[in-house]
Amino acid sequence: MVVSALQEPRFIGRSEAIRLVEADVDCAARSNAKVLITGETGVGKEVVARLIHQRSARCSQSLVTVNCAGVPESLLESELFGHRRGSFTGAYRDKPGLLETAPNGTLFLDEVGEMTMRMQVVLLRFLETGEIQRIGADRPHTRVNVRLITATNRDLSKEIAAGTFREDLYFRLNVIRVTIPPLRERLDDIGPLFEYYLNLFAVQHRLPRPQLCPTALETLMAHRWPGNVRELRNVAERVVLKAGAGDRIRPSDLPADVFHGRPRPSPVATDASASSIPGPSQVEEMTARMLRNGESFWSTVYPVFMARDLTRSDLRRIVQTGLESTNGNYRLLVQLFNMPIEDYKRFLGFLRKHDCHLPFQRFRTVPTRLRAVEPEPVRTATAVSA
Ligand SMILES: Nc1ncnc2c1ncn2[C@@H]1O[C@H](COP(=O)(O)OP(=O)(O)OP(=O)(O)O)[C@@H](O)[C@H]1O
Ligand SMILES: [Mg+2]
Repeated sequence: MVVSALQEPRFIGRSEAIRLVEADVDCAARSNAKVLITGETGVGKEVVARLIHQRSARCSQSLVTVNCAGVPESLLESELFGHRRGSFTGAYRDKPGLLETAPNGTLFLDEVGEMTMRMQVVLLRFLETGEIQRIGADRPHTRVNVRLITATNRDLSKEIAAGTFREDLYFRLNVIRVTIPPLRERLDDIGPLFEYYLNLFAVQHRLPRPQLCPTALETLMAHRWPGNVRELRNVAERVVLKAGAGDRIRPSDLPADVFHGRPRPSPVATDASASSIPGPSQVEEMTARMLRNGESFWSTVYPVFMARDLTRSDLRRIVQTGLESTNGNYRLLVQLFNMPIEDYKRFLGFLRKHDCHLPFQRFRTVPTRLRAVEPEPVRTATAVSA
């Protein structure tokens, strides 16, 4: 569990879509109703949750953020509701849950679509009664008044149809709905966001702020941004770090997949085998099919590699190109290559087995602010205090 100071969230954007999101945020901030925030990875769901809290009457109280992804359900239940001494191995004393630490505040449950069915029942019970029953207790311990905001990048109606998300819980959570469109559907935001992050990282790294030339902006606007604002932010940081004093950013200064989706020749691929079939252009074409046409790694690259028509060196180049645009984050890479996030372990296992797992550190020229920490696949609950 990490406790950090709450920073003022900046919500940049001038598109019509963002104006509508802002209106939803203000509407949500005026009430205590539950909010469900949806949108692809990196669109700004957490930023929006913070804004709602900060603009609400609860802003002087705590905002507690708990990420439900990858946290074992017993740990999640104990984090939220607390436990009694002796209720499980290692429970040496009574411990209050995070909910008790946020009276009259806001609870932000991130990635709520990842909750197990049993945890969904526990959450539903809490929402119905407001009562907190610590693990190991035979009756509720206390009641709390806490405002609930949830977020997910899953399509919950599909999860309901598949039987993995409770419909009654969905109706309880989905009172005010804020949907954040992907960046590729709000092109007007790309310029202001990129300028904002160029400024921010220039100041942060004490480097000159490079200027974006108009053709580079067009290139940015033509990119698909599968990692949305998070990906754009990483690209801006890399550009600031690479640019020299007084530099103007041209399209070719942008990462390979952003620069017209054409990966640049890479140092990893300089060994002799890289010149064998299918050849650099086909490797580039495969990469582009994933990055631009949304084809999956499993259907585009995997069968060709297994048929030995793609060398290890070729595969490493494909992985390198992807890691360059995700700042070394393998979780984002899985999504960039159009695989479901559940394939994370399978994908990493495949790369390791064939000696194509590149160390992520070399792509992290600066400490990343991404939430997913590599290579650890499990995310932990995070508490943020106001
Ligand atoms: N409108 C925006 N203005 C400025 N920064 C933004 C905006 N939207 C997102 N960001 C930045 O993009 C990054 C990702 O945002 P955030 O963590 O809120 O995304 P998310 O939707 O919660 O992603 P995930 O589903 O992966 O958890 C953060 O660094 C955030 O500050
Ligand atoms: Mg998030």
